[in-house]
Order: sequence, then structure tokens, then C-alpha cells
Amino acid sequence: LASTEVDIGAIKEGQSVTVTWRGKPVFIRHRTADEIKTAEGVSPAELPDPQADKDRVKKPEWLVLVGVCTHLGCVPNGQKVGEAKGDFGGWFCPCHGSHYDTSGRIRKGPAPRNLEVPQYTFLSDTSLRIG
Ligand code: FES
Repeated sequence: LASTEVDIGAIKEGQSVTVTWRGKPVFIRHRTADEIKTAEGVSPAELPDPQADKDRVKKPEWLVLVGVCTHLGCVPNGQKVGEAKGDFGGWFCPCHGSHYDTSGRIRKGPAPRNLEVPQYTFLSDTSLRIG
């Protein structure tokens, strides 16, 4: 499918879901206030792939990412409860040790770029369309 609609109404703060879009996993996370604050508090100049959090989200509480490590394409951990989230509280790719932050930005390890943000649109407060 070129696009996919996701009901996000039941995803509580601090929860994540993974959907499939164009054969790839897409991570949707309802961020906590702490995660948002941490992501916004980083100066882009300090980052390997400089990007402000505000340029990666449409609404601060919702983070939408293509769940494919930008190193060699593994699916990072951190979506499921109890999985390692890495040193920056976001996602951790166990293949070669890339750490992503609560904005999905690469912070440590071999991955060259931030996790990609797909094109998406909010259809309502509880629904979004990816693609
Ligand atoms: Fe993720 Fe290599 S594929 S660190």
C-alpha cells in the first residue's frame, strides 16, 4: 500500500506501536513529557546528523520513524517493553551498537544518519496516515 492509516487513539503516553508501511516497520511513539524535554534540550550542533527535534515532529507528543537502522538496515530495539533503549533512551541497534535518542537521532555508534521520518499527516486527533 502506498499509504496506511493508523488509529493512535489507544496508544497511551509512554507506549509505542509498530506498523508496516511499504514493507518497512514504522515506529509510532506517544512520547512522555520527559522524553520531549530531553529531545528538545539537545543542541543540534552537538549531533552527528544535526537536526532539531521540532523539525522531526508535527506534534511533540507523537514521534513517527522508519524503524530501520541507517547503518546496515537492522531493526533497532526499544519498541517493546523491557527492550534495551540504549544510552540515550530511544532505540538501540544491537547489530553493531548504534544508539538513538528520544527523537530517533543517532547519538553513538556507526550509523551515519538519524532514523528517517516518513511523510505523514494527522487526519484527526486519533488518526494518522503514513505516506
Ligand atoms: Fe544498526 Fe549496524 S545495522 S548498527
